[in-house]
Amino acid sequence: MPHLRLAVLASGRGSNLEAILRAIDRGELDAEVVVVISNKSTAGALEIARARGISAVHLSALQFPSQEEFDKAFLQLLERHQVNFIALAGYLKMLSPTIVRAYRHRILNIHPALLPSFGGKGLYGHYVHEAVLAYGCKVSGATVHLVDEEYDTGPPVIQECVPVLEDDTPDTLAARVLTVEHRIYAKALQLFAEDRIVVEGRRVRVLPAKEG
Ligand code: GRF
Repeated sequence: MPHLRLAVLASGRGSNLEAILRAIDRGELDAEVVVVISNKSTAGALEIARARGISAVHLSALQFPSQEEFDKAFLQLLERHQVNFIALAGYLKMLSPTIVRAYRHRILNIHPALLPSFGGKGLYGHYVHEAVLAYGCKVSGATVHLVDEEYDTGPPVIQECVPVLEDDTPDTLAARVLTVEHRIYAKALQLFAEDRIVVEGRRVRVLPAKEG
């Protein structure tokens, strides 16, 4: 699927969105962010999009009488922008099965730990890093994975480790993990842009780079 027309979904500050945009600017990611969608009107990610002239849309299920109506509006928005790939970047809502089905194997999420550890409902943001430290883990990391109908259960595309240091706090660990997130998210997206991903059940196979 060459050239990704990306919708980035984010609930928060948007540093992963920023990293994706910078990778595009540097020519490392063959993609265009055509719309940024947030369930939170105050999300920093919407500001980042507006500052770059990218369509920034606040869309929340609370604005609709039913989940079906929300899904319909959501899919219409994606269609209007001819979105062919979705990147969740700190998006705290679960996508409905209707949306997952419509974009099967074309939705990625980034999680700030090595899944399947420290994932699932309620494990997001600083809660993840607190749990990693409370367990006494010696390593943590980041996972870019395909999105399915549950929280954080889709197969990984890229995982990378970071050490947990003796004097880490949730903040210092989060910062170390975040630098990895910013690097591997664009890298994972580029694998899709180069059509190098084959999904076989739970295994995501990465084909070698094409010559030339
Ligand atoms: C990141 O740590 C991401 O892994 C998690 O939420 C955080 C979002 O950060 N899902 P940002 O909004 O991209 O800065």
